[in-house]
Amino acid sequence: MNVAASLLDLVAIALFILGLHFLNAPPTARLGNRLAAIGMFIALVMVLVQTLGIGWWAIALGTVIGATIGIVAAVRVKMTAMPQMVALYNGAGGGAAALIGVVEYAVFLASGHSALDPVVAISLVLSMIIGSISVAGSIIAFLKLQEVMTGRPITYPGQQVVNAFIALAIVGLGGWFIASAGTLPPAAFYGLLAAALVLGVLFVLPIGGADMPVVISLLNSFTGLAVAITGFELDSVLLIICGALVGASGTILTVDMGRAMNRSITNVLFGAFGSGGGSEPAAAGSGGPQNVRSVSADDVAVMLAYASKVMFVPGYGMAVAQAQHSVKALADQLEGRGVKVLYAIHPVAGRMPGHMNVLLAEANVPYEQLLDMEDANPEFPTTDVALVIGANDVTNPAARNVKSSPIYGMPILDVDKAANVIVLKRSMRSGFAGIDNPLYEMPNCAMLFGDAKASVDGLTAAVKAL
Ligand code: TAP
Repeated sequence: MNVAASLLDLVAIALFILGLHFLNAPPTARLGNRLAAIGMFIALVMVLVQTLGIGWWAIALGTVIGATIGIVAAVRVKMTAMPQMVALYNGAGGGAAALIGVVEYAVFLASGHSALDPVVAISLVLSMIIGSISVAGSIIAFLKLQEVMTGRPITYPGQQVVNAFIALAIVGLGGWFIASAGTLPPAAFYGLLAAALVLGVLFVLPIGGADMPVVISLLNSFTGLAVAITGFELDSVLLIICGALVGASGTILTVDMGRAMNRSITNVLFGAFGSGGGSEPAAAGSGGPQNVRSVSADDVAVMLAYASKVMFVPGYGMAVAQAQHSVKALADQLEGRGVKVLYAIHPVAGRMPGHMNVLLAEANVPYEQLLDMEDANPEFPTTDVALVIGANDVTNPAARNVKSSPIYGMPILDVDKAANVIVLKRSMRSGFAGIDNPLYEMPNCAMLFGDAKASVDGLTAAVKAL
């Protein structure tokens, strides 16, 4: 039985790794997702089989309840609400690791043993601390993204001193737990649990604006780490390897997103980026862009139809308007007239990693037309029309040249270098980072106001009519 169980664990692990591998490219991503799901199913069955006789029914019940919530949530969630859902799922993983630590401690107290094995003591306390920070932080991230509480950074004087004090208390109590092999007074252990939860809340509060995706990905890597350490506590190779996979992929994603936004992790954690916050009208502080030119769909249609190269620049607004199919229809129409159509994809366009790629893949846009920022930027100087479809922050030239801008240094799509820039959005409101976009006042830029789907459909009809 043990050999069979180990082999099946190995199969599950191999499926997770293959799943991750296939997630590398859009054409194989669905297969990757399915393989990982089969791996998860095998892992769950193995846990059930291994626990037969000791509360397997509780695990079965938990699996049914968890799977039902997961399926209903995944079917009903809007693409624009994916980051919140990821934050919640991530919190569930961290919470599970923390709970295992608490339960193992309670079992130890009830067992009457005099001391914990050192490996168990270290893994128990570490997984409990990291899991608690992760679950509390993820809940705050969820509340911010769901707009239950303000998405802006919440700061107060002495914030970092308070956080440093709590972190020190955690290190002290954690050290005491390990040194005493778990025999410290229970009140100290529960104090440690409370301190880790409070730190989770406090460290996410000052983060907001465009840094939220980075912090979710960071919390994701915390959860992976907590789960891997739990594996040592429970002597489970499956948990150690799966946790390590989650931790490593979360870390790689965090580093990649930080790089895409030119932000170091310390800057994300302590920089309170986006304090200008929210999607208030850009007019709020500075008066907003004043000298903008508005154009009609007919004018833009002529420009597009007689262009030789058009670059579509999708952003969050395309996701809100669900305009991806309309965008593909416009591209087909233009290509039918011999226009070269490309898509410029910024790594943090939208609200989750790969957001634009997923939407455009759904509309059957050929992958080879999707250009990453590095490949797209050299194309703009020879582009006749850059059609910005509900993107804002990722096209903001202030990131290049306004030192005082909160997004200064973030690499952007150089749409302003195209001969003509047409921006499709509904109003002069700002994007996620809550700041003005000087692009709109540039002489080569004009606005086509309206919902992105309606505007793109209007453009397709107008091009057809030419
Ligand atoms: P944003 O800067 O958020 O701008 C989106 C624009 O779309 C808004 O200015 C909005 O203007 C417009 N819009 C909204 N609904 C629309 C509709 N139905 N039709 C037409 N336009 C519509 O988006 P972006 O350029 O994609 O940049 C993404 C931002 O989100 C970055 O700051 C990024 O850091 C942050 N972020 C990214 C992620 C990831 S991982 N991708 C996750 C969370 C946050 P109107 O209101 O005037 O229409």
